[in-house]
Amino acid sequence: MKKRIGILGGGQLAKMSTLAAYRLGLTVNILEKEKDSPAGKITPNEFIGWVDDKKLLKEFISKSDLITLENEFIDSQYLKWIEERGKEVVPSSRTISLIQDKLIQKHTFEKSGLPVPKFYDIKSYTNYSELSQKLGQTFLIKSRKFGYDGYGNRTIKNGIDFQEALQTLTARHTTLMAEEFVNFRKELAVMIVRTKKEIRTYPVVETIQKKHICHIVIAPAQIPEKVSQQIKELGIEAVKSINGYGIFGLEFFLTQDDKILINEIAPRPHNSGHYSIEGCITSQFENHIRSVLDLPLGSTEMVKPFAVMINLLGKVNKSTNEVNLNNVLMNEEIHLHIYGKNESRIGRKMGHITILGDNLEEVLKQAIKADSEIII
Ligand SMILES: Nc1ncnc2c1ncn2[C@@H]1O[C@H](COP(=O)(O)OP(=O)(O)OP(=O)(O)O)[C@@H](O)[C@H]1O
Ligand SMILES: [Mg+2]
Repeated sequence: MKKRIGILGGGQLAKMSTLAAYRLGLTVNILEKEKDSPAGKITPNEFIGWVDDKKLLKEFISKSDLITLENEFIDSQYLKWIEERGKEVVPSSRTISLIQDKLIQKHTFEKSGLPVPKFYDIKSYTNYSELSQKLGQTFLIKSRKFGYDGYGNRTIKNGIDFQEALQTLTARHTTLMAEEFVNFRKELAVMIVRTKKEIRTYPVVETIQKKHICHIVIAPAQIPEKVSQQIKELGIEAVKSINGYGIFGLEFFLTQDDKILINEIAPRPHNSGHYSIEGCITSQFENHIRSVLDLPLGSTEMVKPFAVMINLLGKVNKSTNEVNLNNVLMNEEIHLHIYGKNESRIGRKMGHITILGDNLEEVLKQAIKADSEIII
């Protein structure tokens, strides 16, 4: 069995995958730009630098039997370079090349007959009135690459918004696309994990965003079984359309008239799957590790009827040395995760809590109360 996993990136997703890998007796190498990242802190095999440093990358891959990643921002050319040196990357450079640019991702899904919001390429001559004729008065502009937690998105209502968004988003060094504004009823998500031999889906969950950042996840989503089945089927088709192996988080919109649209896919563990650490028989992180090694997958069933996960978003801008968690720790229902980031910033994902139970309303109430009591 391949025993040494190299993870490109050292944030909280890499950290939680590393912990799962340790349970299976594996070794983990972390590559991250700066020292002391959440995952870097928990492995002796921390590589400091980035993929453009070929000497470092060569050493990193020589010490790893297999490479995986925790975000979709690494140019697929670098992943291809790794593959050309005989080292397997899961998901592959080809899969990443089809999704790391949101415009290419949407084209790929559309070509496979999958439902996505209406979208257009933005070229240098595209203007507001041209787009508003196609998409309606209100629409979104998205950075085609490097978008996360909504940082690459702007909602556009008029020509002034449009000009402003072009300026600020272009400064992120990526081209842009426009997308119809979906007046959704709910946002839903599902994790899908695939090896060469099997494919499994986690329960469909509802995600509630605060200022475009995932805040609350409710598992399972309170939607008819038929809708949840449809979402799982669409998710599986989407993963197949990009020839995806490994674990994937898919985000959906459920429209006012009950249509399902795919928002996007992430080729890695996903915030909407954090509840699975305590909420499912096998967590998304363990199945991430199992899938990249092509091992038998674990059950994705929930262990209790309901789970609520709330992200602990930074409430202050300061060092995290003096956070007092006693109140939360005294509540025996709460599973607390602190990622170990050295600095807190308002809105930054600093940790999360999960509560399981039999009564959704009760669990949700408790989780919201606990979140309000944590100042991090
Ligand atoms: N076309 C749309 N219509 C309405 N709301 C949208 C649309 N696209 C995105 N949003 C809102 O913005 C949030 C973030 O958008 P998106 O998923 O595109 O961004 P991201 O920065 O890649 O995301 P993530 O938060 O998943 O890292 C969505 O979860 C949704 O709430
Ligand atoms: Mg998203």
